[in-house]
Amino acid sequence: MPTRTYRICFLGFGNVNRTLLRLLEQKRGELNERYDLAWQLTGVASRRLGWIAAPQGLDAETIADGWKPGSANVRNSIEDWLGDARPDVLFEATSLNVANGQPAVDYLRAGLEHGAHVISANKGPVVHAFRELTALAGQKGKRYLFEAAVMDGAPIFSLFRENLPAVELHAFYGILNSTTNVILTGVEQGLSFRQSLGKAQEIGVAETDPSHDVEGWDAAVKVAALITVLMGEPFPPQRVEREGIGSLTGDAVRQARAGGRPYKLVCRARRSAGRIIASVKPEQVPATDPMAQISGTSSIITFETDIFPALTITETNPGVYTTAYGMLADFIRAVRTQA
Ligand SMILES: NC(=O)c1ccc[n+]([C@@H]2O[C@H](COP(=O)([O-])OP(=O)(O)OC[C@H]3O[C@@H](n4cnc5c(N)ncnc54)[C@H](OP(=O)(O)O)[C@@H]3O)[C@@H](O)[C@H]2O)c1
Repeated sequence: MPTRTYRICFLGFGNVNRTLLRLLEQKRGELNERYDLAWQLTGVASRRLGWIAAPQGLDAETIADGWKPGSANVRNSIEDWLGDARPDVLFEATSLNVANGQPAVDYLRAGLEHGAHVISANKGPVVHAFRELTALAGQKGKRYLFEAAVMDGAPIFSLFRENLPAVELHAFYGILNSTTNVILTGVEQGLSFRQSLGKAQEIGVAETDPSHDVEGWDAAVKVAALITVLMGEPFPPQRVEREGIGSLTGDAVRQARAGGRPYKLVCRARRSAGRIIASVKPEQVPATDPMAQISGTSSIITFETDIFPALTITETNPGVYTTAYGMLADFIRAVRTQA
């Protein structure tokens, strides 16, 4: 097959999309040789950068390293930006808005209307507009994919979509928020909550506003996203019973670990008598429970289905590269399903 070059654009240019750009560069040869796929970067946008379009292409190396765009490339609106940058694929990784998923929902809608595949690391649009965006993508013959939104790029959504047909999901539980896990692990090792949060921010896994992590909102949105997509019921994050780790003291966390029942921020969802009940809260888990072994940025999820009594996925020490990989994998899926 002849190699096809896709114009790509980044919306949001923080930890995730910058890492994705590096990963795309690293994998350029492999994408070309194995998938007949090439890419050219024609647009980047963020609050600070503005809407930067460069129809002739942007040099990835320059912009990855503290780049300041020239004013000739700045556009006034997303519509002008899309019109000039003409992306075939739009990678969206802007900050999470728990309340309504905006403005990312509008951005993704605009990308699809323009005729691009939209690939997002953002859970907000999944919980607030999954059905609408999926339907719009279908009408346009494009894909709306978001593998990176939950469990940092580990294949969860695609596992069910592509490899578990006709399986009914009854329940799931696990540890889905890296930041609180890094914090609890650090506190167990003698650091303060603040020092441990600094560690999570240093490795790039904390939300732009880390109170989203600490108060359990990030985990609640992930639970809501999994229910919405995998259990087929739109489920706002506000319906998840939620308690963060803010009420725990350092002593309580260290004593719980020393006593063999460490604290974890545990996510749960279950369909029972036709109703879904979901929660995120700190729980002391027995040392024999696999969740007790999950430390740092690692995460774990167990699915209970009509076929598999318990199917568990553990992701050990993921980082922002694995999140970026989730988007890269979606890129390949999107353009190959269409080919
Ligand atoms: N980091 C992870 O490990 C991880 C894992 C899975 C999913 N995610 C999700 O990925 C997304 C991005 O995460 P990140 O770590 O890359 O965050 P980040 O480093 O804080 O970057 C966020 C980017 O979004 C831009 N932005 C925010 N609001 C915007 C708006 N209204 N319009 C245009 N651009 C806007 C910011 O622009 P300025 O810098 O100019 O303000 C920044 O470039 C979030 O939704 C997060 O939940 C992250």
